[in-house]
Amino acid sequence: MTRTVMGAAALRDMGGERMGTAEAAVRRTGVDTWWRDAVVYQLYIRSFADGNGDGIGDIAGIRARLGHLRDLGVDAVWINPWYPSPMADGGYDVADYRAVEPVFGTEEEAAALVEEAHALGLRVILDIVPNHSSDRHVWFQEALAAGPGSPERARYHFRPGRGPGGDEPPNDWRSVFGGTAWTRVTDGGEPGEWYLHLFDAAQPDLNWADPRVREEFESILRFWFDRGVDGFRIDVAHGLVKSDGLPDLGGDDENMLAPVERTDHPHWDRDGVHEIYRGWRRVADSYPGGRVFVAEAWVDSPERLARYLRPDELHTAFNFDFLRTPWDAPALRKSIDHSLATVAEVGAPPTWVLSNHDVVRHVSRLGRPATNGAGHSLSHLAPATTLDLELGRRRARAAALLMLALPGGAYVYQGDELGLWEVEDLPEEVLQDPTWERSGHTDRGRDGCRVPLPWSGSAPPFGFSPAGAQAAPWLPQPAGFASVTVEAQVSDPGSMLSLYRAALALRHAHPALGEGEFTWMPSGPDVLTFSRGAGFVCVVNLSDVPAPLPAAASVLLASDPDLTDGELAPDAAAWLSV
Ligand code: NOJ
Ligand code: CA
Repeated sequence: MTRTVMGAAALRDMGGERMGTAEAAVRRTGVDTWWRDAVVYQLYIRSFADGNGDGIGDIAGIRARLGHLRDLGVDAVWINPWYPSPMADGGYDVADYRAVEPVFGTEEEAAALVEEAHALGLRVILDIVPNHSSDRHVWFQEALAAGPGSPERARYHFRPGRGPGGDEPPNDWRSVFGGTAWTRVTDGGEPGEWYLHLFDAAQPDLNWADPRVREEFESILRFWFDRGVDGFRIDVAHGLVKSDGLPDLGGDDENMLAPVERTDHPHWDRDGVHEIYRGWRRVADSYPGGRVFVAEAWVDSPERLARYLRPDELHTAFNFDFLRTPWDAPALRKSIDHSLATVAEVGAPPTWVLSNHDVVRHVSRLGRPATNGAGHSLSHLAPATTLDLELGRRRARAAALLMLALPGGAYVYQGDELGLWEVEDLPEEVLQDPTWERSGHTDRGRDGCRVPLPWSGSAPPFGFSPAGAQAAPWLPQPAGFASVTVEAQVSDPGSMLSLYRAALALRHAHPALGEGEFTWMPSGPDVLTFSRGAGFVCVVNLSDVPAPLPAAASVLLASDPDLTDGELAPDAAAWLSV
């Protein structure tokens, strides 16, 4: 067994740089399906890079750091909401869908960013938030002013309360962030109607039964498509349609994003959402260049998810089933098989994701012994005292090689490439996630995965803000970030960043990776071994003893820098040429 760690250049010499399978398909069919095996980098704008020194990430910061994304080797970026917003929920409370939040920059800067990204070969995906607007949106302000029974109120869900004096909420629905999903307004100076908000009270749910809402969102899609954006991530894609009459839930644990073993949930994953996305698909298909939708849909099963991906609906969706699967070989094998089979039925590509801005960073999930991957919020995970960060990092390296070797598309959340961990000890007074308040201070929420990135230097702001910035980063960075800055990792061949760069370069260059063949190979029960055709094999060892590697294999890339010949250590992965 020989050990060769090949760079992209060596692979190019081996057989010509892979023309992405997607690119080859454009040639054949005339349809640009770049998204079928794209690696998309999730850019949480507030925490990526601060260009003007106010402590908050912005478009200027992104433009200055595009080189990082080019060097990393991703194909696209998805930018979390950048629209004008009071920031009651990190920008998921949109006050104007056709403009840019001044804290993030100007429309001119946004246009320049799209152009500069395209010049580097990076596609740009925006985030659209159709389930709810901000309470500062002009429609909601008009609804408040117009009063009960008005057409202005009909764009949201206003209802009289129950009980004597209408003092009780209209039904028993709960906010995902905790507490009731209803807030009462005053009408004519008196306690009046209630409005529905499945998230924060500052995020009133729009009424998708009203044709004006449908028309407005198709027009918003066109607004940004006309400005050259390549697609949209759809926030809460499974939530838009509510059951007629808004019936009670009846005691479910509804304080979560997904319906559990129930297909008649009154507000999640209702059949009516599909007609909306058929309309959106027609809009996307009327533009050249392969415009794409990715659904954020927390549904009960891969089968339910595949319904969003039928040929006339959305292109792709986040695979949260994979994200929620614990670090356990049989469970992962099952999730992978299930995901592959269900999307294949509708002709959509699979996708894979380990982290995002709503879940505990996977270094900190995987670093808990016997991690229950299903718990993605801190309140559902084993206590911090059980956390072994070294183990988490080691598994995160292996998980990255697993994810990037699977067929289809993949998502990298900013900081994954640096091996960032969840900052679990943010002081209470800096917490901004509405979950903290709405849960009555029982759930710290999602700020710990949103801490600004460390770029360089040995002390905060670690290059996140320019030298001499007037404000500290909007969430404090831990001192430990000093060891994981981009600067510290870039020239260290054993770093997480070097691993991601090498994996993404290989993924582009190797003809077997991206879409295509996938076959499990024989292995022990706690080892995942699969081939991707063209002599490429991936082995992931989830057991607690070394696993033998296939004979006559040479190592293309390994998560474990100490790989010894012929054997893969526990919690390690390798890409092999056989
Ligand atoms: C999902 C988003 O990812 C999350 O950050 C947000 O709080 C909710 N949707 C509500 O928009
Ligand atoms: Ca800024």
